[in-house]
Amino acid sequence: MNISKKMQDAFNAQIAAEMWSSNLYLQMSCWFRKEGWKGFSSWMYKQAEEERQHAMDMAQFVLHRGGEVLLTSIDAVKTSWTDAKEVFIETLAHERKVTDLINKLADVADEEKDRASQNFIAKYIDEQVEEEKNVQDILDSFSHLESHAIAHIDSKLEQAR
Ligand SMILES: [Fe+2]
Ligand SMILES: [Fe+2]
Repeated sequence: MNISKKMQDAFNAQIAAEMWSSNLYLQMSCWFRKEGWKGFSSWMYKQAEEERQHAMDMAQFVLHRGGEVLLTSIDAVKTSWTDAKEVFIETLAHERKVTDLINKLADVADEEKDRASQNFIAKYIDEQVEEEKNVQDILDSFSHLESHAIAHIDSKLEQAR
């Protein structure tokens, strides 16, 4: 085994977290579809596939290092939301939590002086920057639209003076 037990266990925990993320985004995708938001639904479906791919990728890495992959039960995810904006607010909060988990995984790789794991985890550190940015961009679009709507009411009142 070229991977320490501690590093292996940390990866197994992260694999479970990625699978939980995948379930969360699949559930969000299905909720969006039910609400009639097709674009949001397909965006979330893609995220669900990506998270599952992260779990598969990590499992392959553990196996290639001669470690053992042990899947655990996955907690249930939330199943309904108030509106689209709430979904993205929660998505950003979730991705920030995942960023913390990835950073902790990197800490374990540092403690174990495991260079292969450090290298492997580096792309997930980059990935989290990208994912947080993408969700923030969507939330910014919501804010801009709200400002636009408020400006519209303002100009209507101005004309009615
Ligand atoms: Fe992920
Ligand atoms: Fe993610």
